[in-house]
Amino acid sequence: MNILRILLVLCCALLMSSLSFAAGQKSVCIDCHKKITPGVVQQHLDGKMSKKGIDCSTCHGSEHKKADDAKLAKMPTPETCSGCHSKQVDQFKAGKHNLAWIAASAMPMWAHQPKGVVGEGYKGCSSCHKIGVKGEKEKYEYHYGNAQCDSCHTRHSFKKSEAQDPRACQTCHMGFDHPQWEMWSTSKHGSIWQIEGKGSKRAPTCQTCHMAGGDHNVMTSWGFLALRLPEDDKDWLNDRVTILQALGVLDDKGNPTARLDVVKAGKVARLTKEEFQKERDKMIKICANCHGTSYAKNQLEAADMVIKDVDKIMAEAIREVQGLYKDGILKKPANWTFAPDLLQFYEAKSSVEQDLYVMFLEYRMRAFQGAFHMNPDYMHWYGWAPMKETLQKIKDEAEKLRAEKAAKK
Ligand code: HEC
Ligand code: HEC
Ligand code: HEC
Ligand code: HEC
Ligand code: HEC
Ligand code: HEC
Ligand code: HEC
Ligand code: HEC
Repeated sequence: MNILRILLVLCCALLMSSLSFAAGQKSVCIDCHKKITPGVVQQHLDGKMSKKGIDCSTCHGSEHKKADDAKLAKMPTPETCSGCHSKQVDQFKAGKHNLAWIAASAMPMWAHQPKGVVGEGYKGCSSCHKIGVKGEKEKYEYHYGNAQCDSCHTRHSFKKSEAQDPRACQTCHMGFDHPQWEMWSTSKHGSIWQIEGKGSKRAPTCQTCHMAGGDHNVMTSWGFLALRLPEDDKDWLNDRVTILQALGVLDDKGNPTARLDVVKAGKVARLTKEEFQKERDKMIKICANCHGTSYAKNQLEAADMVIKDVDKIMAEAIREVQGLYKDGILKKPANWTFAPDLLQFYEAKSSVEQDLYVMFLEYRMRAFQGAFHMNPDYMHWYGWAPMKETLQKIKDEAEKLRAEKAAKK
């Protein structure tokens, strides 16, 4: 009888505890927010952290307690996470993602855009670039969007499995100037992933190649703009100098400008051979988990050569436009330090320069990014072919402008 009673009590206790587990963690925050933001509460309760006793107040503080003092709730930054996840936060901070805001807001054209496009509201550049750390001033001006980590593990479930899926990268790595998602997903690698499913060990995903071992420090050898220094190949170096001039990083005599400091601060390019080679060696090792080392090296070197070939076309187009300035056919717009200036993007004041910017930011990108992501169609038809077409267009337009000027005399 006694034993039966003990068993009964034990069973009840077990039942109670499993019931309270199913109902989830309790707190003043959760109690009220079940009515205010039920979705947020549900996602939090479904996530791993709530199961380990993390409460809303762990990340948002306890100062806001009532319905009318929500302003007192703190908004997290990576510092909030670093107390418990210092490894991921340190890695992240050493990598390129942390510099995303700095790089974008340093663009000369940033200042000319309305706040809705580049500021809080996160509808344009800022929506993707908020993955980077903001300046102190902006951090306080912008109430939301300083968390950074929620770019891949979205709140409030903060799932590891979500971040491991390549689709977690597609919101940003797509479209006009960096269609890595489109390139990868229609390459052999991406196709195998789609055919064999998430669990496939045969198919490398974005994370396999760029976050190996869960390393939150993302960085590639060439980077976004595919510019490196030094360069042994004299012709290629000559073309790169022309491109760097059009970016305002070198002046017309080839001397570095203040923009080189931005390049350094934003780690926009690898500036020593060692820096470049370190990332390259890491990548070859990753390929070599599945392919032969010679095969992998050969593939990457072939893609390097695509950069050299597109740079030749790019430099020729730039020189054509530089010539128009030299001969007084185009006039440097007021407030511009350099002309032509590729970093003014679509703020360019003539259609030849609009063509030049699209050539640089869309076609040149697609040609080499397609080559690195095993996507021949992007490399050729969306990259190389329009490079050639646009060079011809620029030449024709330059001739027309020169003829118009001569006719006026
Ligand atoms: C009595 C109800 C109540 C309690 C208790 C409560 N909240 Fe809130 N909370 C609200 C309301 C109402 C809002 C405003 C929702 C809105 O309009 O955006 C809010 C907003 C928030 C926001 C969003 C703030 C913003 O700037 O967008 C956070 C974060 C938050 N609460 C966290 C907490 C945390 C953490 C606790 C516990 C320490 C807590 N809440 C306790 C009612 C409550
Ligand atoms: C692990 C940390 C963490 C925990 C725990 C957490 N939050 Fe948040 N919360 C965040 C982050 C990160 C943001 C995004 C901040 C930003 O955009 O700057 C956020 C934003 C919010 C917002 C405003 C954005 C929106 O989508 O409405 C509300 C409301 C909110 N949290 C409520 C809660 C509530 C309620 C809980 C508990 C059930 C909770 N949070 C638990 C990290 C957390
Ligand atoms: C007070 C400590 C603490 C804080 C602060 C904290 N976490 Fe966690 N986090 C944990 C614990 C504990 C786990 C569960 C670990 C486990 O079970 O393996 C976890 C797990 C995670 C996971 C893995 C979830 C999964 O599905 O495996 C992610 C991602 C994560 N946290 C992100 C964040 C982010 C982003 C922040 C800041 C906005 C944050 N955490 C703040 C303690 C914390
Ligand atoms: C919220 C948008 C966003 C998401 C999501 C995102 N990224 Fe990025 N990523 C960026 C931005 C912006 C940059 C450029 C940062 C810079 O260079 O200043 C970048 C840069 C990179 C780079 C470095 C390129 C270089 O210049 O060397 C790699 C690699 C990368 N991301 C991989 C990934 C992977 C893999 C994922 C998914 C697991 C991912 N990213 C998810 C926005 C994002
Ligand atoms: C759809 C998301 C998205 C939007 C919108 C976006 N970017 Fe980016 N941006 C990225 C990603 C992703 C990268 C890295 C791509 C790569 O390395 O191939 C990047 C790279 C950059 C870089 C190069 C950083 C470096 O260090 O190499 C600059 C500068 C930049 N973006 C500025 C801007 C500006 C200015 C705008 C608005 C006019 C903008 N971006 C709009 C996602 C975006
Ligand atoms: C570019 C996408 C991306 C961003 C941004 C990101 N993570 Fe992750 N995170 C991942 C991926 C991918 C994994 C899974 C790694 C693996 O396979 O081991 C992961 C795993 C984790 C884990 C689980 C580690 C484990 O071994 O269980 C934690 C904790 C975590 N991230 C915290 C953070 C924090 C904190 C930040 C902000 C500094 C952050 N992450 C930003 C992609 C990201
Ligand atoms: C098979 C490995 C592999 C996969 C899978 C892969 N990449 Fe890459 N990625 C590379 C290589 C190789 C480079 C060029 C590295 C260099 O600069 O030498 C690169 C470069 C990049 C860059 C820098 C700019 C560029 O395109 O050259 C970004 C950003 C990037 N990858 C993002 C992604 C994203 C997002 C995915 C998934 C949609 C992805 N990658 C899938 C191997 C891969
Ligand atoms: C997780 C394994 C894995 C990794 C890592 C990997 N690959 Fe692959 N790759 C494959 C498989 C499987 C195929 C399809 C079978 C084949 O052609 O070998 C493939 C195919 C290819 C192809 C042929 C594409 C085509 O359209 O015919 C190239 C080129 C290639 N990989 C290059 C690379 C390079 C370069 C890297 C490193 C940056 C890399 N791979 C990393 C598994 C991998």
